Amino acid sequence: MKTPLLRVLLPAALLFIRATAVAQPPQPPAPPAPPPPVTARGAQLGTPLAGLTAAEQAEFTAGVANFTEVETAETGLGPLFNNVSCVACHAAPAPGGASTITVTRFGRTVGGVFDPLTALDGSLLHARAIAPVLLETVPASANVTTLRLTTPVFGAGLIEAIPDATIIQNAQQSRTSTVQGTVAFVTDAATGQQRVGRFGWKAQHATLLSFAGDAYNNEMGVTNRIFPTAHAPDGNTALLSHFVSLTAAPEDVEDPVTGKADIDRMADFMRFLAPPSPAPATAQTLIGQRAFTAVGCASCHTPSMNTGPNASAALSNQAVGLYSDLLLHDMGSLGDGIAQGAATTTQMRTAPLWGLHARPVYLHDGRAATPDAAIRAHDGEAKASVTAYLQLSATAQQQLLAFLATL
Ligand code: HEC
Ligand code: HEC
Repeated sequence: MKTPLLRVLLPAALLFIRATAVAQPPQPPAPPAPPPPVTARGAQLGTPLAGLTAAEQAEFTAGVANFTEVETAETGLGPLFNNVSCVACHAAPAPGGASTITVTRFGRTVGGVFDPLTALDGSLLHARAIAPVLLETVPASANVTTLRLTTPVFGAGLIEAIPDATIIQNAQQSRTSTVQGTVAFVTDAATGQQRVGRFGWKAQHATLLSFAGDAYNNEMGVTNRIFPTAHAPDGNTALLSHFVSLTAAPEDVEDPVTGKADIDRMADFMRFLAPPSPAPATAQTLIGQRAFTAVGCASCHTPSMNTGPNASAALSNQAVGLYSDLLLHDMGSLGDGIAQGAATTTQMRTAPLWGLHARPVYLHDGRAATPDAAIRAHDGEAKASVTAYLQLSATAQQQLLAFLATL
């Protein structure tokens, strides 16, 4: 629910700048994802978790509306933003999915120390704005720039419900001579508590509510109770003040009837969204699964973890076949050069592999067109595992890839 209060300043802004059409970035935006093939497996994505109560089902349905709602300048979009709705990026093959759309991160590393250039509105580029004068650019002082691909949120509620203690215990038990995962301790923006981060390429958020608040503010420009401050173009608050009041209350407010703001409903939708369901195994994929373990993929891509007791029975004590340890690993040359949350410039969260068959492209910047290319780009702690993969026969590699396609 958005308050129209802030928009009283808009007429003043119109005097300041005549053009009010949504401004586009100088570089062409990423092309929309190609329409996904309609398969039985694809059709299952985007549906609610099995076993929801009627009340939870209603929360899921209300959440879909917020996740797919298109914002305009009048309803709170911007002044700076990257897209007009959650689903504009999280699109394929169903709401909550991935896409080929990337966002840009930047910063400056000198003498091994990373500076997110916060004073220049780093480290996320807001590539669009409600007026051309507000368009941001990557600052000239930045010497690191990277793309970040949209990740899917299917089954995100199950990932959220894995207890911190499970991830920490697994980190201690799964160390090998080459693989040493780091637990991503972060301060949860929603509660202020120290928690184990698990969402995002850098495991930078622990909860869906804090990610929703961050995305609503950063990707769409809608201020909310968790992230109440509007982004100023390249840090220029004087310019921003012509468009919004810098002291106004957050735009996303609680509905007096339900007590929920948009970010709460978006979190409800993601929490109750069904996970990808694996395809049936065949003789070939079973051999591939054994190879996956034998060459060391499973030392980071942990096949399954369990949720703990949860207020929702559908999320309580469930096996989560995510194929990730949710830990940070030093990926060497594959690191994205950005320090964020608990992650250093070379550390990345092990990407969950469930739902891999529904992803358009792979790796944090979308550089890999196939899972095989994604594997070959692994470096750092994953080097030994990749070397073992490359030493497999062509047939064995195909069996491993066929196994990945069932996830
Ligand atoms: C401009 C495109 C874009 C929009 C709009 C967008 N996202 Fe995202 N989303 C991304 C990208 C890119 C990532 C990966 C970000 C990262 O880790 O740096 C992401 C990651 C996420 C994740 C983490 C999933 C995981 O991998 O663990 C969640 C949760 C999420 N988005 C929720 C939302 C919600 C809720 C909205 C709407 C308020 C939203 N997003 C709007 C692009 C977008
Ligand atoms: C040291 C931990 C580690 C090992 C070992 C490892 N991976 Fe990964 N994997 C990662 C991380 C971290 C990422 C995300 C990297 C990025 O995009 O920057 C990833 C990403 C991937 C992706 C792309 C997923 C996506 O959503 O884009 C695939 C596919 C993959 N790994 C498969 C494998 C296979 C197969 C093996 C074994 C040959 C393997 N990995 C071994 C940590 C590991």
